[in-house]
Amino acid sequence: MPASHLNQIIAALPLQRGAREPLFRQLYAAIKAAILDGSMSPGMQLPPTRDFCRLLAVSRQTVLNAYAQLAAEGYLDGAVGRGTFVSREVPQPMAAPAGKMDAPGLLRPLSARGQGVVTAMRQVAFHRGPLRAFRVGMPRIDHFPFDVWNRLEARRWRRPDHQFGYSDPAGYLPLRELLCVYLKASRGVQCTPQQIVITSGSQQALFMLSTILLAPGDSAWMESPGYRGASGPLRAAGARVFPVPVDAQGLDVAYGVAHCPQAKLAYVTPSHQMPLGVSMSLPRRLALLAWAAHKQAWLVEDDYDSEYRYAGAPLASLQSLDRAGCVVYVGTLSKVLFPGLRLGYMVAPPALAEALVQAKAVMDRHTAIVPQMALADFIAEGHFGRHIRRTRDSNAERRDLLLRGLARELDDQLLCGPADCGLELCAYFRAGHDEEIVARAGLARGIELRPLGHYADPAAGPACATPPGLLLGFAAIPPAEMAHGLLQLGRILRGR
Ligand SMILES: Cc1ncc(COP(=O)(O)O)c(C=O)c1O
Repeated sequence: MPASHLNQIIAALPLQRGAREPLFRQLYAAIKAAILDGSMSPGMQLPPTRDFCRLLAVSRQTVLNAYAQLAAEGYLDGAVGRGTFVSREVPQPMAAPAGKMDAPGLLRPLSARGQGVVTAMRQVAFHRGPLRAFRVGMPRIDHFPFDVWNRLEARRWRRPDHQFGYSDPAGYLPLRELLCVYLKASRGVQCTPQQIVITSGSQQALFMLSTILLAPGDSAWMESPGYRGASGPLRAAGARVFPVPVDAQGLDVAYGVAHCPQAKLAYVTPSHQMPLGVSMSLPRRLALLAWAAHKQAWLVEDDYDSEYRYAGAPLASLQSLDRAGCVVYVGTLSKVLFPGLRLGYMVAPPALAEALVQAKAVMDRHTAIVPQMALADFIAEGHFGRHIRRTRDSNAERRDLLLRGLARELDDQLLCGPADCGLELCAYFRAGHDEEIVARAGLARGIELRPLGHYADPAAGPACATPPGLLLGFAAIPPAEMAHGLLQLGRILRGR
């Protein structure tokens, strides 16, 4: 190539003076692009840095830095006194010539397992934007003592120790010890710290359990309607998800036994069924435990929000009744603290614990240590208990507000389900509205109405049918927003 042509290419390299990216990085990227698209071909000699910087009106150091980076990455070869050349090792051309490049399509199809994972959750709806009536799954965040948390974390950051290296995959030991005491006192959970594995939210626990405990093709009972965050991991693991109906006593164990006795696992929310809000009766709990012990099936107890029980004492966990070592108890800090913290835990039967610790190490080595440390301090210094008590009072107030509002303004339209626990309640339509139409109308009016159908398994038969209705979150919703939500909901249901 004649030198004049090369000089033209160099003079045309796109550099933006005053941009945030340093000039040498821009020059490096521009030369690299020219090499990859073939404008600068293998073996071509680049001008001496002195000429190069004159052509582009940049400093010599800028050119030297760009050359050095390109040489380190193998795009340029050179030796002192011999000149600088485009490497002969770069295949030509690597990319389409200049112009707008389309992003390449998927190189090859996902693996069958990958396809199973990415389609497992069916359009998961993440809540976006500012909080609105009646968002579900959200605790009251403005109550959280962020100043205290900030102080506790800062204290840890100021004194880094050996724990800041790789640490125990099971989680920070003092935190597991504190959780042990807490779970025993509040939920009757019987365990040692060695049975606890700290996870990134309960979602990771559910994924790990599905993957470790089930083989592709194994059947698993799933509450229907039920929590998609649990059926997703089961599907991702290749399990056959068998929908088992839920009634006023919780999971219909007899139905599961009659129709899918060979299941290897059952997922349940016995303290507060998601989404119907019922708690599992003692006879059902005992029947479930008896089936599991007899069939050597695992029971995954998801106890996600039972700290917030507004009437009577908290119910004892299923785990506390387990004598066969079949219950894995899963908990989360997402409801008592906040979801973005991504802290959860599982309590495994002793014989399973070590396998889960090993699995956790394979998955992500361990959960980030500083939030675990801050949580341990938060619990040990009494902030945790105080926060739960305070938030429980606030939640109860907002629940009462919602119940009063529904009774006052929508009694002819909605029939409320159980509301003695949790952060949301379900309300059934009295006049046979279409859930999806109501939910869309809600969005158009700036409120979030979660259809109960969202929790239904499309493959479930009529035995699992639930009346149409909505799940309404209350804990995070300030009174004025709740009043606005009730007004809009009334208008939608009355067609105004
Ligand atoms: C039944 C159930 N389990 C667990 C969770 C919490 O999940 P995570 O701990 O991953 O935030 C939720 C959140 O809404 C839930 O509804």
